Amino acid sequence: MKIVLLTGAGISAESGVQTFRGSDGLWEGHRVEDVASPEGFARDPQLVHNFYNGRRKQVLEVSPNPAHLALAKLARTRGVELMLVTQNIDDLHERGGSEEVLHMHGELLKARCNDCGAVVPCREDLSRASICPICRGIDCMRPHVVWFGEIPFGLDEISAAISSADLFVAIGTSGRVYPAASFVSWARRAGVRTLELNLEVSDATGVFHESRRGRAGDLVPAWVEEVIATKGH
Ligand code: APR
Repeated sequence: MKIVLLTGAGISAESGVQTFRGSDGLWEGHRVEDVASPEGFARDPQLVHNFYNGRRKQVLEVSPNPAHLALAKLARTRGVELMLVTQNIDDLHERGGSEEVLHMHGELLKARCNDCGAVVPCREDLSRASICPICRGIDCMRPHVVWFGEIPFGLDEISAAISSADLFVAIGTSGRVYPAASFVSWARRAGVRTLELNLEVSDATGVFHESRRGRAGDLVPAWVEEVIATKGH
């Protein structure tokens, strides 16, 4: 059974990572375009560095929850071929035991050099004074995350996997950010069954064949046990 999973901020919420779209429309007190766009970075690089430095510290303090652990278990199930795609930039899937994770919006614990293109591990704060460990350039490092207006990673691979899947599942995502929000439509067009696991009704709920409402920490382990009971060994 081939399954493509798309996870969003909702799967990390119970670990203590704040989701993006609060009722005030701000992202931890910032307008999204100020901290998550190439224009925002060009305008005020230190503000953007400070914002991601804060998020990096937070992510290093939290732990995976039962939903992350359940997906790692699913990946190890015989008879299941899984592609795990996440919009999340945290590493909670990996720390929960998932070995192959496609981070379509990049990774907070990596930095990229604007001069030489190197992508390097990053657990420390970044600033304009950060030096690229590869080309030794200065004032050239940025978070290895995909900002608004930039192209997400892995789209060809994801599209191919969706079109040959038996099931597409979206977990904890509001369906407001494209192209990830279109994956369910890609799946429907390819005749793939679709399931949503989310706390609230999302912008994409109506497109799914089935939608279950609840906390990821409850819904995901229960769904994984269902799949294992029918497909796994
Ligand atoms: N369990 C399940 N779902 C939850 C939980 C929970 N405990 N808590 C919140 N949710 C749901 C919310 O109901 C909401 O629909 O998770 C969703 C989170 O939505 P967003 O905050 O919009 O996050 P996401 O969809 O991942 O955002 C997509 O937007 O700015 C960007 O690049 C950023 O990757 C991010 C993208």
